[in-house]
Amino acid sequence: MSVTLEINGVTHRVDASADTPLLWVIRDHIQLTGTKFGCGIAMCGACTVHLDGQPIRSCSTPVSAVAGKKITTIEGLTTNAAASAVQDAWAELQVPQCGYCQSGQIMSATALLSQNSNPDDDAIDAAMSGNVCRCATYPRIRNAIKSAADKLS
Ligand code: FES
Ligand code: FES
Repeated sequence: MSVTLEINGVTHRVDASADTPLLWVIRDHIQLTGTKFGCGIAMCGACTVHLDGQPIRSCSTPVSAVAGKKITTIEGLTTNAAASAVQDAWAELQVPQCGYCQSGQIMSATALLSQNSNPDDDAIDAAMSGNVCRCATYPRIRNAIKSAADKLS
């Protein structure tokens, strides 16, 4: 089937079967490779993108379910104030280790701060618990979210 998608403000028409995971359309059809494959079963968060501003797991979202909706990937976060604060904090606190999980972490953190610019620990846990980091950068992620929140407020 032919699907029309809006990704990072750009309209794309792709040919893919209805059940193709959005992740593979983003990576293989659109060539945006910042969104990563981790588990493929919505358990790790590496593939997180925004759908109409909400974080979703693109590995388990069929492309047919997102036609006509706004999709944002890590490459499209540059115009978002919360995203800028998050990315600045990530760099200042040197959050990444291997880096593989980090685009997903940043997408979840940005969605959180876009909706709640002063999250407490419980809100951070709720927003970030689905994003796994095998390098265990969790303390730096938490500190970076708090630093970004301070800058936004
Ligand atoms: S690759 Fe999608 S949640 Fe792990
Ligand atoms: S930084 Fe290596 S998996 Fe998170």
